[in-house]
Amino acid sequence: MNNKKILIIGASGMLGQRCAKLFSSMENVKTLCASIDETIRFENAEYMTVDVTDEIQIQNIIMNFLPDVIINASAYTNVDKSETERDLSWKINVSGVKYMAETAKKIGAHIIHISSDYVFDGKNGPYSESEVPNPINYYGLTKLEGENAVTNSGADYTVIRTNVLYGIIPSGRLDFVRWVVDSIRSSKPIKIVCDQINNPTFIDDLVSAIALVIEKKKFGLYNVGGKEFLDRYEFTMRIADVFNLDKSFVTKIVTEELNQPAPRPLKSGLLNDKAQLELGYAPIDLDESLIRMKNELNL
Ligand SMILES: NC(=O)c1ccc[n+]([C@@H]2O[C@H](COP(=O)([O-])OP(=O)(O)OC[C@H]3O[C@@H](n4cnc5c(N)ncnc54)[C@H](OP(=O)(O)O)[C@@H]3O)[C@@H](O)[C@H]2O)c1
Repeated sequence: MNNKKILIIGASGMLGQRCAKLFSSMENVKTLCASIDETIRFENAEYMTVDVTDEIQIQNIIMNFLPDVIINASAYTNVDKSETERDLSWKINVSGVKYMAETAKKIGAHIIHISSDYVFDGKNGPYSESEVPNPINYYGLTKLEGENAVTNSGADYTVIRTNVLYGIIPSGRLDFVRWVVDSIRSSKPIKIVCDQINNPTFIDDLVSAIALVIEKKKFGLYNVGGKEFLDRYEFTMRIADVFNLDKSFVTKIVTEELNQPAPRPLKSGLLNDKAQLELGYAPIDLDESLIRMKNELNL
């Protein structure tokens, strides 16, 4: 990855933090990290504040830095609130992405945009890249339209779909694994659904896939998920095993019982075959990823 300039947008989010850490530590790579909140930062990385809903700010940051690669890790990610905060969710997940992609086109940059398995209805997963999306909630619709904004921009692009991110995130919002660990350790009973199936993705695996996309200059659409397909209750049991948690705090339920504002795709997950074949993507074992979290976060 010689002499690349990489702009990471959404650098304070879960994925953005891990991208910032990896790419800012690479020799011969110049990174600029940008997010609406720049309180989470790495010492050796350069940071700027940006609101992706502001077209002028996006244009300025890209035109001034002139990156070779733009990684968009920013998003409005609250699935239930998306149902009511539709305007904001659209502005961040669609309009903001359009501004980035159109400016990438102007300067000849490669945009890598992160999307979601929520573009599918979850009737017949796991999904390959060739299957036709059919979102069943507003978040999923905005993620699909964000993808379309990238593909229609004319820029060199890679769209990476992923699902259920977890990983070594010391700051910011809790991922599912940390939430399970923290809840049970503080003796809080939790209800976990047994009818939502995915292949949860260790964030460092996703970051390695992004690095492979950059190195190998791969364009188009790629699925990047974890190695194992399992339902959320099974995932929770695996977390409990690795972290020695008391499983009696966990009650198995079905999604319907949660009465959430946004319907969830149930039988979902993303097939990794294309990424494995074309990128050399090799996700680590689920238990190994949990052990790494336990050790590196001192949990
Ligand atoms: N998490 C998952 O399980 C999952 C699953 C499938 C796909 N994805 C996709 O993966 C990508 C990364 O997700 P993540 O979990 O890392 O998300 P995240 O932790 O919620 O981070 C999103 C980032 O975007 C920033 N952001 C929000 N609004 C912004 C704005 N107007 N201008 C600039 N930055 C803004 C957030 O800043 P603030 O925190 O300050 O608001 C945050 O830093 C997203 O595209 C998401 O859709 C995630």
